[in-house]
Amino acid sequence: MIRVASLGYVGVESPKHSVWNEIGPEVFAFQLGQPGSDGAVRFKIDDNAYRISIHPGERNRMSYQGWELASYEEFGNAQEELSRQNIPYKVADAGECADRLVGEMLYFQSPAGFRYELFVLPSRRDDSFLPPRPHSGFQTGDQGLGHVNVVVPDGEAEHRMLVDVLGAKVSDAVIVGGGDAMRFYRVNPRHHSTAHMVVPGMRGLQHIMVEAKEINDVGRAYTLAKRHPELKITADLGRHMGDMMLSFYVRTPSGWDLEYGYGGQRITDERTPGMLQAPAEYWGHEYDPMFFDFQALEPAD
Ligand SMILES: [Fe+2]
Repeated sequence: MIRVASLGYVGVESPKHSVWNEIGPEVFAFQLGQPGSDGAVRFKIDDNAYRISIHPGERNRMSYQGWELASYEEFGNAQEELSRQNIPYKVADAGECADRLVGEMLYFQSPAGFRYELFVLPSRRDDSFLPPRPHSGFQTGDQGLGHVNVVVPDGEAEHRMLVDVLGAKVSDAVIVGGGDAMRFYRVNPRHHSTAHMVVPGMRGLQHIMVEAKEINDVGRAYTLAKRHPELKITADLGRHMGDMMLSFYVRTPSGWDLEYGYGGQRITDERTPGMLQAPAEYWGHEYDPMFFDFQALEPAD
């Protein structure tokens, strides 16, 4: 088994990538990091060099998920484990590592066709996060950047990879609309670092979640997002069961939603996973029909 510490970074492509230079700092309090070599807009939400990259591209799609390994030594173990499980991978060269601002990285394709990157030694600098407007900062550390919620064509194949290869654990499942259960996966005390929804034949990104340290940060971002002409609230303020996140969702110009949250619970191995019945909400999270109109999907390989 590969020992993964956390979801370290996420990369997407978008024709509207440059809009993020404005909405990232002004609405979401993301700090602009050093741009990528292709002009990617990169956001800092803590002392890491960046956590979210929006690359220029012809369509809205998820480009890669970067998973940080639990130790430097784990980089060698990961290669042995992928070979043992007959999963083809490539070790990134110096240029590719420099692009991602990491020490070592390898990558492989998941059954859905997502690019998974496993890395060590992310570039970071203490006390370097300076929010562009008053903000208490984001909950990262041992919980990673937050979580992603992705669409996969085949829940079972992607499930096997996460559990058998990356050592993820199911934290909960939820039945949505009578279809396949949506599953939530954790690799650390965060309730989930990724969740999978099944749409036959498709893959893509539904949302990225970031967690503010104070509840007022959610309220401020909500007010600013509601006022912004390029943004639309897709789920009103509410609190989920499962991760207990108090949050709202907003459709971004890149076709996926940003979930802006606060107050997620930390969980341990002692907690028993549950099958939650929809709507799995303590209150709120009234969904706009646009929430279910996934605009950042592509045909799966
Ligand atoms: Fe979420």
